[in-house]
Amino acid sequence: LRLFSGSSNVQLSQEVARYLGMDLGPMIRKRFADGELYVQIQESIRGCDVYLIQPCCQPVNDHLMELLIMVDACRRASARQVTAVIPYYGYARADRKTAGRESITAKLVANLITQAGANRVLAMDLHAAQIQGYFDIPFDHVYGSPVLLDYLTSKQLHDLVVVSPDVGGVARARAFAKKLNDAPLAIIDKRRQAHNVAEVLNVIGDVKGKTAVLVDDMIDTGGTIAAGAKLLREEGARQVYACATHAVFSPPAVERLSSGLFEEVIVTNTIPIPESDRFPQLVVLSVA
Ligand code: R5P
Repeated sequence: LRLFSGSSNVQLSQEVARYLGMDLGPMIRKRFADGELYVQIQESIRGCDVYLIQPCCQPVNDHLMELLIMVDACRRASARQVTAVIPYYGYARADRKTAGRESITAKLVANLITQAGANRVLAMDLHAAQIQGYFDIPFDHVYGSPVLLDYLTSKQLHDLVVVSPDVGGVARARAFAKKLNDAPLAIIDKRRQAHNVAEVLNVIGDVKGKTAVLVDDMIDTGGTIAAGAKLLREEGARQVYACATHAVFSPPAVERLSSGLFEEVIVTNTIPIPESDRFPQLVVLSVA
């Protein structure tokens, strides 16, 4: 078994390697003057089971391309099996056509990874679980929820209500609520007018006087979760926590999340968070 890291989250890869009691394999990664990427595996992997860890986070195109090149290099080096470990699967939000003449990028990415030569994929908290079916190779879909739930449970919060920030996230929030002693569920009815612009209409469920835990797969610009928190406060929630596996944190997420709406914003390290994007209410848990 050999483990290699792409450049997108070396710290997470190192943590995984430590957990497994092994070293990351040696690999050269460089960029040519024209911007093209170069990868070379620095040891024989002939006949090996190779795991490549590379979340496809920002800059997503570079990280995706680097993953494809790593997979291709491993296949051409006669690895027995190549598993692409993609803690954050980029381009997942376009998982179907919602208007004419659009691309389904989640499927396009699946085609690229398969065509490059991956035999197996492991991804975490896909935006839509059906993306597994876009692959004709084995796919392990794992979740950040055990790590997030352990943390929430350790806080011994009372009068909980688990809140889905939109209708699409109800199944995820319901699963969370079940694990938090069957806490009640509330749903925010959100209407979106444009990409990355969230408009919140109302809360379905009782949040007055309660500790609300908003659960989402990702926080990108923070618009969805901040608008949700604002509404929950207006509806009388006593405390608001936000929980998400993927901290995409595109601007102005940090300003929105650190504006005093949340007791804590709890995320995992599927995507590296630079020191400059950290704020006092942020809790980062490891999924290594
Ligand atoms: C939407 O369907 C997703 O689950 C997230 O709620 C959304 O992508 C978060 O984006 P933003 O933080 O930009 O509102």
